[in-house]
Amino acid sequence: MKKVLFVCLGNICRSPVAEGIFWHQVRNSFLDQSFSADSAGTAGYHIGERPHTTSTSVAHSYGVKLEHRSRQFSREDFNKFDVIICMDHSNLANVLREAVTPEEKSKVYLMCQWENGITPSDVKLAGEVPDPYYGGIDGFHHVHNLLETCNKNLISWLTSSKP
Ligand code: 4NP
Repeated sequence: MKKVLFVCLGNICRSPVAEGIFWHQVRNSFLDQSFSADSAGTAGYHIGERPHTTSTSVAHSYGVKLEHRSRQFSREDFNKFDVIICMDHSNLANVLREAVTPEEKSKVYLMCQWENGITPSDVKLAGEVPDPYYGGIDGFHHVHNLLETCNKNLISWLTSSKP
């Protein structure tokens, strides 16, 4: 069982959608016995809240259900998860700042390292999942589509390698 944690800032727009799509894709591939997923925010602004209503309705329009309630990332997550995948470079820097050991640091990735293929690209050159929070509905659709692409490659990588 490989355990994956998705991380953004508020844990109401991007990472709960990343988690929902991950579950959706592993269930559709009959891989749900092999994986588990969760999400968290580096900030505690929205602890206990359901995902953003626009994230939820856009996800529903693609057949993806969001079941999460917001929680904050904590150091314990380094023990609980095999892979920690951040949505943008700021989230990545904040999570890496909490990492103490080389093993903890080695678990941390950026989602867009899987934007263009199965093998993770150079983290420094990877793009970001943009924060849709302050924009219109198009941004939420863009985020959803980007997360579908990245998750598809991520799941292939997790299936074929040993992170
Ligand atoms: P998320 O988006 O990090 O994708 O969940 C945000 C949600 C809330 C805030 C910022 C980003 N906020 O400032 O409250």
